Amino acid sequence: MADTANLEIGDQKYSLNLIKGTEQELAVDISKLRKESRVITFDDGYGNTGSCESEITFIDGDKGILRYRGYDIAELAEKSNFLESAYLLLNGNLPSGGELDGFRQRVAGYCDLPAEVLTSIRSQPAGAHPMAVLSSGLQALGGSYPQYGTNDRKKDLESFDESSALIISAVRSLAAAIYKNSLGEDLSSSDPGRTYCENFLSMMFDKPGESTPVPSAVESALDLIFLLHADHEQNCSTSTCRMIASGGANPFASLAGGVSALWGPLHGGANMAVIKMLDEIHESGDDGSRFVESAKQGKSRLMGFGHRVYRNYDPRAKILKNACDQALDALGVSSPILQIARRLEEVALEDPYFIQRKLYPNVDFYSGIILQALGFPTNMFTVLFAIGRTPGWLSHWKEIAENGKKIHRPRQIYQGETLRPYLPVEDR
Ligand code: ACO
Repeated sequence: MADTANLEIGDQKYSLNLIKGTEQELAVDISKLRKESRVITFDDGYGNTGSCESEITFIDGDKGILRYRGYDIAELAEKSNFLESAYLLLNGNLPSGGELDGFRQRVAGYCDLPAEVLTSIRSQPAGAHPMAVLSSGLQALGGSYPQYGTNDRKKDLESFDESSALIISAVRSLAAAIYKNSLGEDLSSSDPGRTYCENFLSMMFDKPGESTPVPSAVESALDLIFLLHADHEQNCSTSTCRMIASGGANPFASLAGGVSALWGPLHGGANMAVIKMLDEIHESGDDGSRFVESAKQGKSRLMGFGHRVYRNYDPRAKILKNACDQALDALGVSSPILQIARRLEEVALEDPYFIQRKLYPNVDFYSGIILQALGFPTNMFTVLFAIGRTPGWLSHWKEIAENGKKIHRPRQIYQGETLRPYLPVEDR
């Protein structure tokens, strides 16, 4: 295999290096092209652009493969858990027993939020969306721990073991505090003897002073959802985090930006949109066929379907589809919208429109059904996605802080007005 590619522009020839990934994928390195030729590349939406070299997560969207640090997602889903996978993403390798215990304790130690962070949540307007409050809550958290968020890369890296454990822990407490605040209730304190998800569920649903036992099926379903969301390489929110980190900003600020990016309905907000869509279909008496027709005519989108990278079944959706049955059985919940989701999937996967465009269920298609069965309100779904994605965002922050040399700064092709004279307002 050649290690260069040749490009001809007019009568000029340019030799461009090829970069090979460990999974044999090839990229043409155009980083010096503009300097040599004055020409830039154009890739609207970055669908064909590698923005970085990364060692964290591998996706083969055509084959439906997802691996964290070389471990297949299905194997991690079966054998690992959220905190162990978080350690793996952050540190590159699975922890020893001692390392895992140390990490768990460090995370547990940061579960209760500083009083001023709780005050900042309580000061938000009642109607503020939980994602907006989460983003500002992360910034407030950084304000409470200024020693971990200095914007001095060397210092922020030195404290990263602490700040990453703090953020992974506190993001779930922020979520619970946001929910409790929307009900006008106080947040109960955590119990260091309980697991990550047990503490979260207790903070969400117990009244202060209560400690309701969490059924293991509930805890494991939530842990699985967090694990499956933990990283997904250069998606919209992670790229946003990396972009912010490339300017030297600290982990709190970078993740606050990631949360904002995740909020949109085409990204993390899709898990809310799926439930809204399924409820509407259910209420209208449609079995799904009418909705599929309207999606084909471009009148709506089949939410939870399609993915920029997967042109095959999203491996996370496959795992969640099976987990859905188990979780609902264990909870003794029957979900009419699960039947509709299955029917929609069946209809779509046999329809030439979806087949030709390679549109399959993505992670959001089944996750919302489980979250709803676990008792989470729909407007918290994207917040739950953010809790899961936190270790991934932090791992990418660390990768940039350790290796990133340049601030990220794409170029553009300007298509606006050319130079024109300014007219005084009375002459316009
Ligand atoms: N329903 C119906 N048609 C669709 C859907 C869908 N969900 N997704 C894509 N298409 C169609 C488009 O209309 C387009 O058709 P055309 O070629 O006739 O114009 C074609 O498929 C390609 O669509 P794009 O929008 O160009 O695909 P892109 O890769 O840019 O978008 C995206 C990916 C945003 C995820 C899209 O599939 C979508 O909107 N899906 C629904 C929202 C969703 O589930 N988002 C969650 C993504 S996963 C995540 O972020 C965790």
